[in-house]
Amino acid sequence: SLLEELYRETIMQHAQRPHNFGPLEDATVKVGGHNPSCGDRIELYLKVEDGRIAEARFTGHGCAISQSSASMMTDLIRGKTLDEALELERKFKAMVVEGKPPAPELGDLSALQGVAKLHARVKCATLAWNALEQAIEEAQPS
Ligand code: FES
Ligand code: FES
Repeated sequence: SLLEELYRETIMQHAQRPHNFGPLEDATVKVGGHNPSCGDRIELYLKVEDGRIAEARFTGHGCAISQSSASMMTDLIRGKTLDEALELERKFKAMVVEGKPPAPELGDLSALQGVAKLHARVKCATLAWNALEQAIEEAQPS
């Protein structure tokens, strides 16, 4: 369908020219994530100031789905509070793990909703988000 075509286009554009790719020198949190089914890894870098994500970047290698997910995620979480980012993470996982319709706040990430039907690729789509969840935990004042 036309929508699926648009989604594929969005995914490929982010995979070929990922946004926010490269290390963040003044990161306050750095977390590694890996997909055990293929061995691909990413590093997520956040700069957290007063409970807000001032900057988000990533490095690493992976398939089109994992790279586009990390690219769109780092775009989306910039400027968000840790709580807001955690809420986005829940909404993203509800979409790709449980197959729920995409929450409007997810924006372009709705391009990844078809992944819910491709069980082998769910771990690719959630790779960056698992790292985010861990980074938020580490950044949270205890
Ligand atoms: Fe484009 Fe897999 S090759 S999403
Ligand atoms: Fe490794 Fe998708 S195949 S992250």
